Amino acid sequence: MNPYHALAIEGPGTLQGEVTIEGAKNAALPCLVASLLTPDTITIRRVPDVIDIHNLCQILVDLGVRLFESGDRIEITASTLTKDRPDDELVRRLRASFLVLGPLALRKGRASVCYPGGCAIGRRPVDQHLKGLSALGFDIIIHDHAVEIDARNVKPGRFRFDLVTVTGTEHLMMTAAGIPGTTLLENCAREPEVTQLAHMLMAMGAEIEGVGTDCLVIHGKRELGGCEVTIIPDRIEAGTYILAAVASRGRIVLEPCETQHLQALLERLEPFELTFEAQGERLLVDARYRTDGRPDYLITEPYPGFPTDLQAQWMVLMTQVQGDSQILETVFPERFRHAFELNRMGAHIEVHPPKAVIHGPTPLRGTEVVASDLRASASLVIAALIAEGTTVIHDIYHLHRGYAKMEAKLRSLGVRINELTPAVVREPASSPYSK
Ligand code: EPZ
Repeated sequence: MNPYHALAIEGPGTLQGEVTIEGAKNAALPCLVASLLTPDTITIRRVPDVIDIHNLCQILVDLGVRLFESGDRIEITASTLTKDRPDDELVRRLRASFLVLGPLALRKGRASVCYPGGCAIGRRPVDQHLKGLSALGFDIIIHDHAVEIDARNVKPGRFRFDLVTVTGTEHLMMTAAGIPGTTLLENCAREPEVTQLAHMLMAMGAEIEGVGTDCLVIHGKRELGGCEVTIIPDRIEAGTYILAAVASRGRIVLEPCETQHLQALLERLEPFELTFEAQGERLLVDARYRTDGRPDYLITEPYPGFPTDLQAQWMVLMTQVQGDSQILETVFPERFRHAFELNRMGAHIEVHPPKAVIHGPTPLRGTEVVASDLRASASLVIAALIAEGTTVIHDIYHLHRGYAKMEAKLRSLGVRINELTPAVVREPASSPYSK
């Protein structure tokens, strides 16, 4: 892991060339957790080299899983699990680690997990996960800093989510896959990452009806087997590079890219009159002759709506459009910390959660900014790309949580970018880089 903490980007620039898209972090994470459901070996290909994946692998190995990495392939065998509670410090680094609760309890009889850390995009409750596990017969014991569940009385059940939750759906679906009988889940998330997990669970021996819809019927099995799975291309990474190319009037080819997963973004970009050419898993985006677009009213929604994970990146583009654009953030109403950093670069954005109003166009100028969360850091990279002068983005650790090799990819696309290492690398004890 690179020890540097900041990136310096010289603007204005543009993106020209080809970019390789990694496997989707948010698909790989639940698929790695699902390996706990079986003592057989699971092989997962196209796993992205990002911090969130490394943290989850550390958690799984700490639980006793045998794990081998070779390039972007991970072989994982959960034949013996030595603990029924993952390491608290590791869990606090990665909210998605809460997903281990159900599968671990099925294997060990009971399990507990400390509450996942909050983060810069607002409160991250887990009430839907717990209500769903209770509907499957788990006894839930709430402790001060952790939750414990007991699997003695598990049974197939029926549960309707009060709201659409991606990892809530994944958690309940994979746990139900390990419970013999038929479980019905309603008001489920339909993200492509949920669909990938469903296909993996079916390859392990579960039967699941309604995949891709908001109503899942899971016919679970006590004994699930091993399988091989290749992770889908990361639609959020692809969307991030597309928005960077559009903002900077560039021309890029993305591969592999599942255009179907990006429909909400591509439709939103129509006013810019871009040139798109999709051939198999290759997508050409030519923004060299784009129009200036027009003000927009964006609402973030669960898939297939516009993804909240592209909201920050979209906001940067709107700072360059003539007129007042708006964003209504219905998934994470507080997810606007990037707006304050963009304003320091010359943007004029008013934030009134769950809304933001972007007054454009405003020329952006390079300055020192601080990343606050994974997608906010991506928006600052795009802003730096179109700003006049040098932008230094601090706390770039956030970027490395979900974007693999981004510096190298941007450099190969023609961006003038440098990695800044502190003169004296003084890592606080809890630093993710500490040994
Ligand atoms: C997943 O988070 C993604 N993470 C997030 O990506 C993504 O932003 C989010 O889905 C929405 O698409 C992974 O897949 C690992 P939610 P998740 O449960 O599942 C509320 C990134 O940048 N809620 O779908 O944690 C919640 O507060 C990350 O890669 C409850 O109220 O999000 C939010 O308002 C960031 N109770 C809404 O539901 C619950 O029990 C949707 O959250 C669970 C969620």
